[in-house]
Amino acid sequence: MTSSTNIVAGNWKMNTDVTSGVRLASSVAAGAVAVPGVQIIVAPPFVSLAAVRDALAGSSVGVAAQNVHAEDSGAFTGEIAPPMLVGLCDYVIIGHSERRQFFGETDESVGRKAAAALQHGLRPIVCVGETLDERESGRAVEVIRRQVVAALADLDPEAAGSLAIAYEPVWAIGTGRAATPDIADQIMGGAIGSTIAAVLGTDVASETPLLYGGSVNPANAAEFAAVPSINGALVGGASLDAATFLEVAAAF
Ligand code: G3P
Repeated sequence: MTSSTNIVAGNWKMNTDVTSGVRLASSVAAGAVAVPGVQIIVAPPFVSLAAVRDALAGSSVGVAAQNVHAEDSGAFTGEIAPPMLVGLCDYVIIGHSERRQFFGETDESVGRKAAAALQHGLRPIVCVGETLDERESGRAVEVIRRQVVAALADLDPEAAGSLAIAYEPVWAIGTGRAATPDIADQIMGGAIGSTIAAVLGTDVASETPLLYGGSVNPANAAEFAAVPSINGALVGGASLDAATFLEVAAAF
């Protein structure tokens, strides 16, 4: 990406309640003023979105949802539609590997969700990543290309400038075993960048922020930040403590 604003997003997953989420978000906002030039985002559970949005009012910290449904309304018990998120958050994480693994999300549903989010002015952070088995059998690039093609399939190229893609190798998530910067660069600067360019053109490819996710912490963040193809991070465990998360953000 050519823009100089890196993105560091904290995916809180199924952690925090409304009270502790507001406290965490407020601490992030207080510290974010010392981290200029980085778009910091927090992604609380759905039930905390409104309270976290209010706690962050007037700060530079953005809010993301962790998932969204592809339809605007209907008989989909337990789901949250894109129009319901408008005004609550600016970003939405789509296709996280935990959604793919535990909740049956497919390449195709990820593409539909990304398109639906963009239609409602929400900025998708689409996650892609190979499993350990796929990497060890030499299929990582093929899997990533397939996931990216499907994620972009339904997008209007005019709106696609609002998209970000997170490369989260499944074997690096929550394991303490981050990818090496070289591996991340091969996938992000190589497979992901060239696939976006092939599907949506080189302009969109050069504008699309690419985030690395998977065991990012204050000790390894600078190594990832130094890779030109990496424009930020999607952080899980290390985003649940404000000081730790801000240290990661400061590295970018
Ligand atoms: O979405 C962030 C993520 O899956 C990485 O989690 O705990 O390895 O930083 P973690």
